[in-house]
Formats: sequence, C-alpha cells, structure tokens
Amino acid sequence: MNLILLGPPGSGKGTQAQMMTERYHIPQISTGDILRAAVKEGTPLGREAKRYMDQGELVPDEVVVGIVKDRLNASDCNSGFILDGFPRTLPQAEALDTTLKAMERGIDHVVSIEVDKDELIRRLTGRRTCRRCGAMYHIIFDPPKRDGICDRCGGELYQRDDDKEETIRARLQVYERQTAPLIEYYRKRGILRSIDGVGEIEEIFQKIIKAIEG
Ligand code: AP5
Ligand code: MG
Repeated sequence: MNLILLGPPGSGKGTQAQMMTERYHIPQISTGDILRAAVKEGTPLGREAKRYMDQGELVPDEVVVGIVKDRLNASDCNSGFILDGFPRTLPQAEALDTTLKAMERGIDHVVSIEVDKDELIRRLTGRRTCRRCGAMYHIIFDPPKRDGICDRCGGELYQRDDDKEETIRARLQVYERQTAPLIEYYRKRGILRSIDGVGEIEEIFQKIIKAIEG
C-alpha cells in the first residue's frame, strides 16, 4: 500500500506514521526526519537545509525530490511506503507522480489530518522527541513515565529547534500557502481521505485504518 500523510505541522503525521508502520510493515518516509539527520551529521545537504528549517521555510523542491526519489528506490519500499511530510508543494506532488509512473506504481490513499490552529500550537510547543529512537511524546497529552527520558529506549528527550512559537507560526503560514492546495489536488483525483485529527491518538489511528481499509 502506497500512502501519503498530509497535514499541518503538529497534526500528528509522525505519531500516526509510526503506528502505521507496525500495522502494515511498510516504511515511514519522513523528509523532515531525513533532513534533521543530515543537519545532525553536518553534511553539505544538512548545512543547506538548516538555513530554511530554522526559519520555518521549505527546503527547495529539487533537494527534497531528489531525496525521496532515492528513498523510493530502496528495496524496503517494494511492498509500499508511508510518505510523511512529502509532497508539500504542487511541484513536489507532480514530481512524485512522474517518479511513481516511471516505476509503474501509484498512490492508493492520501490521508489528510485536520486540526485547528490553537491545538497545533499547543501540540508543537509541548512536543518532545527521543534523540536515540525518534519516539514522540507530549509533555501534557502523551508524557513519558520519567521526565526527559524515553519510555522505549531510555534515550534523552529533546525539543526540536523549529518548535519555538515564532517558528511554529511561520511554519503554519507556509503550510497554508504552499501545502494546503494539495488537498484539492488529491481530492480531484478521488484518493483523498479526510480525518478529523482532534481526539485521542488511538482513536485517530482507528479512523485512519477505517478510511483506508474501508
Ligand atoms: P517536518 O519534520 O515534516 O515537520 P512538520 O510538517 O512541521 O510536522 P511536524 O513533524 O512538526 O508535526 P507532525 O504532523 O509530524 O506531528 P507529530 O506527530 O510530531 O518538517 C520540518 C521542516 O523540514 C520543514 O519546516 C521544512 O523546512 C523541512 N521539510 C520537511 N519536509 C519537506 C518537504 N517535503 N519540502 C520542503 N521542506 C521540507 O505530533 C506533534 C505533537 O503532538 C507531539 O508531541 C505528539 O505527541 C502530539 N500529538 C500527536 N497526536 C496527538 C493527539 N491526537 N492529541 C494530542 N497530542 C497529539
Ligand atoms: Mg513529523
């Protein structure tokens, strides 16, 4: 199954993608995670990407399209994939179509997770991520058992650089301007599944499963 998770920053794409990988045994492809790993390693890609990410702006299309093309060609994507945070612009969506067509594949479902702005800000300001395994927490909505420590692996929890309120607002504006038009793009194709993303994490997971499994 080939899936796209679409939604504003903080809508729960990463949280739900991690749960979906366990159910469907297909990889999560998060362009945000790939770029953050490059920033951490200090590669040329990471150095270029950091300039945009710190401002809440999008990294140039050709850069992310190249990353995703390579990733889709890896053998673990043979039985499907979950794209998390890609595509994010119309040119990215068109490039994805071309790439998949050349591979004689296509997108089965685009899950659009809808959450209001105040809730998004509450979620992002309280998010914590494990440095070691990438597990996600929220200091109020989904707290770890021990402050600052990952339940799964004992790793240290940290706050993302772009989760400052000012950068969050910039990211939300960028989403509205550049990414929200993709909802219509996929609706017209008949593959959009819209989900109300407010509620318990498990409840939203069940709604997603129902939307894609019928
Ligand atoms: P990226 O990493 O993709 O960030 P994002 O889209 O801004 O989304 P987030 O990861 O912040 O949110 P999420 O929807 O995954 O929510 P999460 O599950 O964590 O991109 C970062 C940057 O990289 C971009 O700004 C850009 O610069 C660059 N980039 C990446 N992809 C790009 C692309 N394709 N093109 C160009 N540039 C690109 O949940 C958030 C919090 O809420 C967590 O704490 C979680 O525990 C909590 N939570 C989740 N669900 C619930 C719930 N139901 N109730 C209460 N709390 C919840
Ligand atoms: Mg994410």
